[in-house]
Amino acid sequence: MIRLVNVHKSFGPKHVLEGFTLDVVESETMVIIGYSGTGKSVAIKHIVGLLEPDRGEVWVDGREVPKLPRRDLYELRSHIGYVFQFAALFDSMTIGDNVAMGLRKHHHLEDAEIQQRVSEALELVDLPGVQTRFPAELSGGMRKRVGIARAIALRPKYILYDEPTTGLDPVTSAVIDELMVRMRERLGVTSVVITHDMRSAYTVGSRIAMLYQGRVQQVGTVDEIRNSSDPIVRQFIEGRPSLDGEPLGVPAAITSAGSAQTRGGERR
Ligand SMILES: Nc1ncnc2c1ncn2[C@@H]1O[C@H](COP(=O)(O)OP(=O)(O)O)[C@@H](O)[C@H]1O
Ligand SMILES: [Mg+2]
Repeated sequence: MIRLVNVHKSFGPKHVLEGFTLDVVESETMVIIGYSGTGKSVAIKHIVGLLEPDRGEVWVDGREVPKLPRRDLYELRSHIGYVFQFAALFDSMTIGDNVAMGLRKHHHLEDAEIQQRVSEALELVDLPGVQTRFPAELSGGMRKRVGIARAIALRPKYILYDEPTTGLDPVTSAVIDELMVRMRERLGVTSVVITHDMRSAYTVGSRIAMLYQGRVQQVGTVDEIRNSSDPIVRQFIEGRPSLDGEPLGVPAAITSAGSAQTRGGERR
């Protein structure tokens, strides 16, 4: 179980999270929605200890993440797959090596076992046999699938997906949605998915939480959110501009907020 309790996080004068509380229970897919730049990525980076809260608590399976010694933090990360917003594949490495990366870092596995896990993971995302290809030879949607394969190869208990369908066409997005559902159904993975694509949220979510002004505005089942009477939630899910004038659906990629790369102040 993942628990964020009353998390506060600021960068200089900018208050991003101001009392963010959310529980993610075993085997569910929790979708976090919200306007670009509201702190969705910041929130999930706390789960893997890439960021530490100024105040509040972050727990994964009864362990308080910010208090873990580095070794234990690395051990924890080996159970949490992280699919970054931009596929974040290494262009100079083959697909096979890209997928094997986490395994080499986190596990002490024989090479044959690594190859076995890589091919299993690529089969799970319907990309069998692409090990020797390079990222540049694949489409954007295929690269996203490789990103998912890399997470899956760890056989993680949790997967965090940061905007897995942003920037993809609707057909490719639907393929990624289906893969996320498959990971839950076949592997029983517990997931957190960040998106501002409501179609994707309704397809993959067990529950949906909307982040707004540093807090969870509402959390509920897909139906509860779909039928929400909260004006802020309604405004977002109907795709109207937000109350404070932020446009909806600006891909985070074109805002300074969007980068999933490690930046100043983040823990490595
Ligand atoms: N490491 C960081 N250093 C400084 N500011 C950051 C950092 N990470 C995120 N921010 C700021 O926090 C805010 C929320 O960012 P983010 O979580 O990426 O938004 P979202 O994922 O909801 O689009 C943005 O204003 C962003 O610029
Ligand atoms: Mg983001």
